[in-house]
Amino acid sequence: MAGRPRVPVRLVSWDDVVEWSRGLARRVEESGWRPDLVVAVARGGFVPARLLCDFLDVTNLLSVQSQHWVEAARAAERAILKFPYTVDASGLNVLVVDDIVDTGETLALARDFIAREWKPREVRIAALQWISSVAKVRPDYYYLEVREWVWFQYPWTRLEDLQQFILRVLREDEKLAGRVVGEEELRSVFVEWYGVRPEDFGWYWGEALERLVRRGDLERTPQGYRLASGRRG
Ligand code: ADE
Repeated sequence: MAGRPRVPVRLVSWDDVVEWSRGLARRVEESGWRPDLVVAVARGGFVPARLLCDFLDVTNLLSVQSQHWVEAARAAERAILKFPYTVDASGLNVLVVDDIVDTGETLALARDFIAREWKPREVRIAALQWISSVAKVRPDYYYLEVREWVWFQYPWTRLEDLQQFILRVLREDEKLAGRVVGEEELRSVFVEWYGVRPEDFGWYWGEALERLVRRGDLERTPQGYRLASGRRG
């Protein structure tokens, strides 16, 4: 392997998540502002939001879910809320929590919706990480500022991400296009692309391949794997 990965990935452990959430909780505490209600932005904010409840001694926990729409005509992604329900949050301080602020669109959308429709006393936003070089929004609270964009591979999307990583390599790598690829070659091209090794994913690697075959995205042959016909993306 040589050079910089095409999609730099940083594997995040469960221990990292606990440490970062603890650090984030400390930032909230030190600000002197106390949330009465925590709102997790689904799905990425679930685990950090639950840990913040524990670390900040908050018993009220709700969730809103964001979804990304690809507008074909404009080739732009827009975030919307999937189930825009309303609750009465009058008099409450609400802390909206996500795993990461990348473009910032998701958290800003959730914050503005809650401020407008739930009418709380105040809404603030928090994330474990803030990618300051790309984000349009700076969260009120964050634990880590990230300057160079990387994909944080959080433990709660291990299987989902890994399936996408594998498909992307098979679809987009010039060396592999349109043929059967042995597992050893797939593993070495994977490292070139992402800078992390299949072994780092433990049992998830085999499970991801198994799922892709079962879902019909990949075909397994005695010589290795190939993209299923008609699914070349
Ligand atoms: N979701 C949006 N941007 C992300 C990133 N850079 N890493 C992990 N999850 C993300």
